[in-house]
Amino acid sequence: MKISQAEFWAAASSEREIPAARCPEIAVAGRSNVGKSSLINRMTGRKRLARTSSTPGCTRGLIFYSLDERLTLVDLPGYGWAKRSMDERAGWKRLVERYLEKRQALAGVLILIDVRRGPQEEERMLAAYLEAQELPFVWILTKCDKLKRSALHARLGEIADELAPAEFLTTSSRTGAGVAELWRWLEKAMSRREAG
Ligand code: GTP
Ligand code: MG
Repeated sequence: MKISQAEFWAAASSEREIPAARCPEIAVAGRSNVGKSSLINRMTGRKRLARTSSTPGCTRGLIFYSLDERLTLVDLPGYGWAKRSMDERAGWKRLVERYLEKRQALAGVLILIDVRRGPQEEERMLAAYLEAQELPFVWILTKCDKLKRSALHARLGEIADELAPAEFLTTSSRTGAGVAELWRWLEKAMSRREAG
């Protein structure tokens, strides 16, 4: 898919602020600091579309980005922040759950995990939930530039066992590795949706 225009569309910090969908959506999920916003920037070729930071909890609420008005990427708030209050965390968790439960336009979810860490409880619960809802998802192993080639190879072998039989892709927002494959996955998810 060739994207000529990518722009901020909406932000929602409560359920009533979630805009009515106008095209298929792909949500980007994962713990804080895993690289969700950076991946959106890399996918759209726009360095500063989504705000990124090495301080976890940078993205607050749900942020909607419109790509040629054909596809919306939704940057979900990261979980696992150290610096947010329990109330705020619980509120955002509820907001994300509501969004995932109700969104008819949702065509797929990217579950990001740092390639060096692997999936933890929250990611496994999210994957199980999406499976139960029959919502397509793919694991994205982020920051693959952080490992040397041989270490990466060994790590991918381990992670493949942990995630099997689910599909996974390996990406780097720094180098752009894996982003073309990710777009192919998105295109498939969107055409499956149009067909079904
Ligand atoms: P929250 O908004 O807090 O949920 O975080 P996020 O998941 O959106 O992470 P973000 O994209 O802001 O990235 C967090 C930090 O990781 C930033 O310092 C990024 O520069 C860095 N980062 C993200 N992706 C990569 C990558 O592929 N390689 C490397 N080396 N660093 C990355
Ligand atoms: Mg972010």
